[in-house]
Amino acid sequence: MPLDQLNHSIIYFDNAATSWPKPAGMMAAMINYSEQIGGSPGRSGHHRSLDAGRVILEAREALAELFGCNDSLRIAFTKNATEALNIALLGTLSPGDHVITSGMEHNSVMRPLRYLEAQGVQLSVVSCSSDGILSPEDVLAALRPRTRMLVVTHASNVTGTIQPIAELGKIAGRHGILFCVDAAQTAGALPIRVDDMAIASSPFQATNPF
Ligand SMILES: Cc1ncc(COP(=O)(O)O)c(C=O)c1O
Repeated sequence: MPLDQLNHSIIYFDNAATSWPKPAGMMAAMINYSEQIGGSPGRSGHHRSLDAGRVILEAREALAELFGCNDSLRIAFTKNATEALNIALLGTLSPGDHVITSGMEHNSVMRPLRYLEAQGVQLSVVSCSSDGILSPEDVLAALRPRTRMLVVTHASNVTGTIQPIAELGKIAGRHGILFCVDAAQTAGALPIRVDDMAIASSPFQATNPF
């Protein structure tokens, strides 16, 4: 069967892993970049480079608005969630730090955490309830004076369970620990307000009033 006919006869269930069909606006933006812009942002003073920089700034500001972030310069682009999570974990945690995570994490969180554990980072993996929810009380009970970060997946790619990130963020904010949310399954689908939910927010980093 020709591919175009096949596409119309399937129901695609893998959207959470790889979206399809791609939005028409995405294709239009890529074609527009290739045909009309073509420069690298922040690399040169000519108009192609400046135009590319403008596109990135607009994307940055749209994302900051979508995710409730008051400073669009805090948006960092990575090629996928695995790379972003590796940067967040490996770039922040040092031997002696304590990190709390859930028993529902994707390998892109667990593998860097297990690597860091072997380097001397203390790791608490808090079990979830039988319906897959991480209890904020259990997270509170796992806190230690050296707790630096709480890392939680927003929604599990295996069960679809949605974690109470607003409540967990309150704990992180109150205790001055970094809150890292793996939103690979939810960004753009469920509301995420990084400032209100204390996600990765530096103002809270200074102290850990455990
Ligand atoms: C919950 C979760 N976290 C992280 C990832 C990794 O995402 P990426 O493929 O963008 O690296 C996935 C991918 O399916 C995922 O489902």
